Order: sequence, then structure tokens, then C-alpha cells
Amino acid sequence: MHQSEKKRQAALAALEYIPDGVQLGVGTGSTVNYFIDALPQVRSKISSVVASSEATRERLEKLDFKVLDLAETGDLDLYVDGADEANKHFHLIKGGGGALTREKVLAGASSKFVCIVDDEKMVGALGAFPLPVEVIPMARSFVSRRFVKHRGQPVYREGFLTDNGNEIIDVHNLSITNPPEMEERFSRIPGVVTVGIFAHRGADVILVADNKQVRVMEK
Ligand code: 5RP
Repeated sequence: MHQSEKKRQAALAALEYIPDGVQLGVGTGSTVNYFIDALPQVRSKISSVVASSEATRERLEKLDFKVLDLAETGDLDLYVDGADEANKHFHLIKGGGGALTREKVLAGASSKFVCIVDDEKMVGALGAFPLPVEVIPMARSFVSRRFVKHRGQPVYREGFLTDNGNEIIDVHNLSITNPPEMEERFSRIPGVVTVGIFAHRGADVILVADNKQVRVMEK
């Protein structure tokens, strides 16, 4: 099965997790796009929806969903999003699409985080996927040097600005042996807005699509 079909299967499986009257947070990326496209099927269950990026907001609005700000809804019942990597401890790397800051906010504001991935993203140890780090522009080279000290190879994501007007460094070759500890340590570097390790608030459920089925991993 092609990876895109697996993404679609994982996304459709997430529809089962939508309760009546849900306040729903929606992530960003190609997997989530399949989820968004299927949302009209469960429109009557959705009380309000918050987007983790401008791209997601636009896609939802095209389907006639009224997208609210988090300040208007308060905490959310459910957050559905993809990931770049996931492990069996429900830790994730996110931010391949550059929306990691708002994604981390929505994940943190939600009672339940359902993560939708294909089996190619399940890993033993996080870090083969370059770690996205959002930085304020004036701190970019300083933060990059700090990551070199941690034996990472920072690469500036050229020509890309986040929805928050910041820049992204993708840090290659980090061995993320202790995700919660490294999330904390890297988040403390001055100028870092968000690191793409989602360990303190990882997923509660991971739906993993392989060639045959969607496997449910629940905490
Ligand atoms: C965006 C993300 C995405 O969830 C992640 O990059 C996965 O994307 P895709 O579903 O396109 O493979 O974190 O910031």
C-alpha cells in the first residue's frame, strides 16, 4: 500500500474518536488533510473547531467550518494530529510542516491527543528525522551553535517563516535517548520558541496504519 493511502486510513480511523459536542483541535500536514476532508461526515458532532495553522484554517473554512481561536473556546476535548516520528512511549517528533508551536499549544490544551501515522513513522529511538526547532530570527545562529555543542547538525530551513513570523532550524543527527529530558533542555536555550519533541505532552492514542489494518496503541 502506498504511504499516502496508509495516511488516509489512519486519518479515517480517527473519526471514531470524535464524541458528540466535541471541541476539536486540528493539526497540520498531509495526514491531517485526509482527516479534515472527512470531517463533514461528522459535522453534527462538532461544537467548535480550532486550527493549528493557517493552512489548516483555510482548508477547514473551505469546507464551511467556522474556525475559532483557542481564546474563544477554552480547553479542548480532542486534538488530532500527525507526527514525523513516534515511539512506543507515545513520544513524538513533530514540526516537519513547521506548525510545531501552535500544535504544542493545542495538544497541551486538549484532554485527549490522538496521533495518526503510517507504520513508516514508528521508530525505536527518535532522531532519525531532523528535529525541527522554531527560533526567533535574531537568535538563529546562537541557537544553532548550541545544538552543535550537543553534536547536532543544524540546517536553516531557508525561505520558510512560521505562522508566528519565526524561523525553523532542522537539527540532524541528534540521538534523542531521553525525549522528556531533551525536550526540557533544548526548550531552555534562549531564543528557542518550541522544539519538535513532544514528550511531556505526547500522544494518548496512536493510530498506526500498515498495509493491512490500523493498529490502535493506547496509553
Ligand atoms: C506539522 C507536523 C506534521 O504532523 C508532521 O510533519 C507530519 O506530516 P505529514 O502528515 O504530512 O506526514 O508536525 O508541523
